[in-house]
Amino acid sequence: MKHIGVLTSGGDAPGMNACVRAVVRTADRLGLQCTGFYRGYDGVLSNEHMPLTRFDVRNIIHRGGTFLQTARSDEFRTPEGRAKAAANLRALGIEGLVVVGGDGSFTGAKLLSEEHGIRVMGCPGTIDNDLFGTDYTIGYQTAVDTAVEAVDKIRDTAVSHNRLFFVEVMGRDAGFIALRTGIASGAEGVLIPETTTDIDRLITYLRTDHQKKRRSGIVIVAEGDDSGGAYAVAKQVQAEFPDWDTKVTILGHTQRGGKPNAFDRILASRMGHAAVNALMAGRNREMVGVQGHEVVYVPLEQAIKHHARISPYLLELVDALS
Ligand code: F6P
Repeated sequence: MKHIGVLTSGGDAPGMNACVRAVVRTADRLGLQCTGFYRGYDGVLSNEHMPLTRFDVRNIIHRGGTFLQTARSDEFRTPEGRAKAAANLRALGIEGLVVVGGDGSFTGAKLLSEEHGIRVMGCPGTIDNDLFGTDYTIGYQTAVDTAVEAVDKIRDTAVSHNRLFFVEVMGRDAGFIALRTGIASGAEGVLIPETTTDIDRLITYLRTDHQKKRRSGIVIVAEGDDSGGAYAVAKQVQAEFPDWDTKVTILGHTQRGGKPNAFDRILASRMGHAAVNALMAGRNREMVGVQGHEVVYVPLEQAIKHHARISPYLLELVDALS
């Protein structure tokens, strides 16, 4: 293998730049040529790319977002799109591709490899932490830090006004960000998609609290929760407590931006480095993960098929400490 490609795909995540940097510098060290594609698979399809040397990735390890930009490509979801992408990669002499993204990006990578023999390795880049086979995905810890910082601020104003806040966090259909944010910010409740939300139980709990005149509180709601989200829960709860001022804050894309924390920079560096070494060793269709302190390789098929599991211990912890 003499030439590899790298792209970032799907929703951006803090640490993607650090990962691309690691890919480029590892390739450079091994004497490999490296090409970066703009806007994920769209850049492969439109032939928008640039050669990347170790100097091109200076001063990006601390930057949020992705300098290569990212997209969710509709055309690449079609067999014709993937055939065109494979032809474009071959024309450039690219034999292996590192894809930094989430499950949608990995589904595309797997198909590209199966259908056209391009070797692919995935680095899990998503704030959602929902990929099976890795304890952490790139960007997740930073997103939790961002959410906790925001909730701390909300708590100041909640206490000052005796208000009950419902704070909605991202995660698509996973509750990892919500659970960790809830624990770290000392939330009164955490509602996540992995468990059935019992609004009556929440109301009973809040009533006890309310009667004890604590009167301010924070409930973290994962965007994918079966309750329908923060506005829906707030409406139901407000109906039970007409004299209690309730507010909703949707943290939204603030959780995706900002500079990666040290954990994500190191995680991304390890993963980018491991992905290139894996391609060189002849590995294919795998995701780099971390389990405990070890770097592991997980077949893409497994990483995208299964949902990462929420720790029952953390669920219990939220309940015990709220
Ligand atoms: O997958 C990352 C993520 O931020 C999810 O948490 C969220 O549901 C989704 O992307 C939002 O996507 P978009 O930026 O396209 O609105």
